[in-house]
Amino acid sequence: MNRKYRKTVIAGNWKMNMLASEIKPFMEELKANLPKTRSCEMVLCTPAVMIPAMVKAGKECKVAAGGQDVSSFEQGAYTGEVSASQLADIGAKYCIVGHSERRQYHGEDDMLVNAKAAALLEKGVMPIICVGESLEQREMDLTMEYVAYQVKAALSGIDASQLRRCVIAYEPIWAIGTGKTATAQQAQEVCEGIRAVIRSIYGARPARAVSILYGGSMNAKNAQELLAQPDIDGGLIGGASLKPVDFAAIIKATDQD
Ligand code: PGA
Repeated sequence: MNRKYRKTVIAGNWKMNMLASEIKPFMEELKANLPKTRSCEMVLCTPAVMIPAMVKAGKECKVAAGGQDVSSFEQGAYTGEVSASQLADIGAKYCIVGHSERRQYHGEDDMLVNAKAAALLEKGVMPIICVGESLEQREMDLTMEYVAYQVKAALSGIDASQLRRCVIAYEPIWAIGTGKTATAQQAQEVCEGIRAVIRSIYGARPARAVSILYGGSMNAKNAQELLAQPDIDGGLIGGASLKPVDFAAIIKATDQD
């Protein structure tokens, strides 16, 4: 983290878990375990139908609500889709785009991820843009090349003032939901590389200000070491965000000054 230049973000990704009726008890337990002062922005990204309940229950502890996906279209005959303006309207502050599960199970490519990020920015919702390599790519030493390509593609046409409202999440696919975390060094190396890519497009100042998160089996035990890395500005947390005590412990781990 480098709090002098950028905000720390701890974002939970609930994926397709939990019920709206479980949010209130979750938040009560979270509140009981949170430190009094917090030095990070807290976000919980839920299925779209649960966002209103999260907005309501999250107010007291200042937990922002986020979506997990958005349509790239503004409105119209796209059955089943949720638009950026609909997310904004119900109070979503953030929305994940390009999660590897969307890329893998729904065939999302970099162009679509870019269009979704742009659609969100247009409506004032901050995209959390996910990138990350597969195990094969890592073993073939292609990690940085691939991730750099994903970052460039996702940010295509996005200007420096919009970049300020973007968060990047580096999530190596082999670390997601597997219990295999990237080492702090591996994660730092790629996050540093992502910042270098952003610097090459936008220049030093915008690159210094963008928050880059790590995701992939981050938990209460490994969070502190990961968050101590200079280019890791927070986490995108799946499994551990479903447990209020664990999520609170990760939030506590941001307090390292
Ligand atoms: P995980 O998921 O923390 O369960 O590995 C992270 C993610 O998919 O965002």
